[in-house]
Amino acid sequence: MIRPNLSEAVSKQVNAELYSAYLYLSMSAWADRKGLKGMSSWLYVQYQEESTHGLHLYRFLLDRGGTPEYWPIEKPESEWESPLALYEHVARHEAHVTALLNDIASLSMQEKDHATYQFVMWYVNEQVEEESNAETIIQRLQLIGSNSGQLLTLDAELGARVFVNPFPMTGAIPTVA
Ligand SMILES: [Fe+2]
Ligand SMILES: [Fe+2]
Repeated sequence: MIRPNLSEAVSKQVNAELYSAYLYLSMSAWADRKGLKGMSSWLYVQYQEESTHGLHLYRFLLDRGGTPEYWPIEKPESEWESPLALYEHVARHEAHVTALLNDIASLSMQEKDHATYQFVMWYVNEQVEEESNAETIIQRLQLIGSNSGQLLTLDAELGARVFVNPFPMTGAIPTVA
């Protein structure tokens, strides 16, 4: 059984992942409105991933006898100056999520809750890719500058990304493997 302080931390992480999903949905709509359909689709895949993360953590919490809490999900921003500004926001946001996950990993160790530690380490490792993806796109956008032809080439590349659910599913809620 998970301790109340860790239960609260995981519950907060569920909220953070659902907020991430909401933020990416907003970003996806912004890109759509700007005619960047590939970028919009890439950001929508992020939305799908983050929703799955939230539900996967939620399932874990229930499996460990935790008590989910339901804080409001903050309203995300909906305007960015440019694709570069948007991806800089992605990078900042993912670094923030990494810090939250590191805190849960540290608390799990402190509480000697190895099951929670092992579970959350999947997320800690996943963040390496999340941060690196954002940085790579930022570098591409910096090189592209104001060249709209190259921006459309990048847009087409980003549009090729498809959502792959990393977790086995039971109904709508991912099962904790
Ligand atoms: Fe996530
Ligand atoms: Fe993420």
